[in-house]
This record gives sequence, structure tokens and C-alpha cells, in this order.
Amino acid sequence: MSPLREIMRHVPSSVAVVTALHDGAPVGMTVGSFTSASLDPPLVSFFAGKSSATWPLIERAGRFCVNVLSAHQPQVATAFAARDADRFGGRAWTASPLGSPLLDGVLAWLDCELHALHEVGDHLAVAGLVHGASAAGDVKPLVFFRGRLAALD
Ligand SMILES: Cc1cc2nc3c(=O)[nH]c(=O)nc-3n(C[C@H](O)[C@H](O)[C@H](O)COP(=O)(O)O)c2cc1C
Repeated sequence: MSPLREIMRHVPSSVAVVTALHDGAPVGMTVGSFTSASLDPPLVSFFAGKSSATWPLIERAGRFCVNVLSAHQPQVATAFAARDADRFGGRAWTASPLGSPLLDGVLAWLDCELHALHEVGDHLAVAGLVHGASAAGDVKPLVFFRGRLAALD
């Protein structure tokens, strides 16, 4: 394991699934790099690996929904990180106001328009302009910590 990866295992992160509609089909990928970036204008950010097969599809959509996962959704995080999997298979979702897939049971969602893209080493820093968002006040989050998906008590 690289020294940086070894250190970053100890830094807890939220777990979100970034979704979009690509040619009418839902696509999505799990990210642990989601964070807020700017209040005015309202921007959020995450990092997409340059080798990601899903990111180019989301980029083409030009908009995406960040689905922040709740404690009872570790299997959703795993499914949306798996290669060659039917990530949406049997999963309930509705269209967000901007038309991106909004997964059932999430802790929070943010409906975004692609705002900026910057190369950062082997990743792309993605900034999304937030058009709408909502959060469930009584739900616990899913966190990624020391290589494990866990509920935050
Ligand atoms: C907890 C967790 C966090 C992840 N965080 C990121 C991330 O921030 N950025 C990223 O590009 N991939 C991240 N991944 C990997 C992607 O979910 C996915 O496996 C990878 O993009 C390969 O799929 P793709 O080619 O369809 O994109 C994460 C996976 C897990 C399980």
C-alpha cells in the first residue's frame, strides 16, 4: 500500500453515489471524496479517477445527483463500486428535479449541474453547481474508515 493510502485509511470519509442519466440509462459510481467547496455560488466537489469508466458518461450528461448514503446502505456503496455489475439492478430510484437518478433511502441528495473540471494528478476534481438539495434529519450516515464501511453512532 502506498504511504499516502496507508495514512488516508485513518481519515474517515462520507460515502456517496454520484448518478446521472446517460442516453436514458442510469449510471453511477461510489465516491468517498465528496465535500462542499463554495457557498456563493453554491458548489460541491468530488474527485473522479482518470481511469473511471463511469465518469465520462456523467460528464457527457452535464449534470449529476450526489446521493449521500445512510448507515443502512453499505451494500449500495459496494454495488456502485463493483466493475461489470448491473449497479442499478432492482434498485429503487426516482428522477431528481434536474432529471438525475435519486436513490431511495439516502441521507441527503444534491442536484448538480457540472460547473468545472480540473486535472489533479491521476484524478479529476469535479465541481457541481447545486440547484436543489434535501436531507433527512433523522438518519445516520455511512462512513468509510480504515477500509471498512460502517455506521456512525
Ligand atoms: C468507499 C469507496 C470510496 C470510493 N471513492 C472514490 C472516489 O472518490 N473517486 C473515484 O473515482 N472512485 C472512488 N471509488 C471507486 C469507484 O466507486 C469505482 O470502483 C471506480 O470508479 C471503478 O468504476 P468505474 O470504472 O465504473 O468508475 C470508491 C470506492 C469505494 C468503495
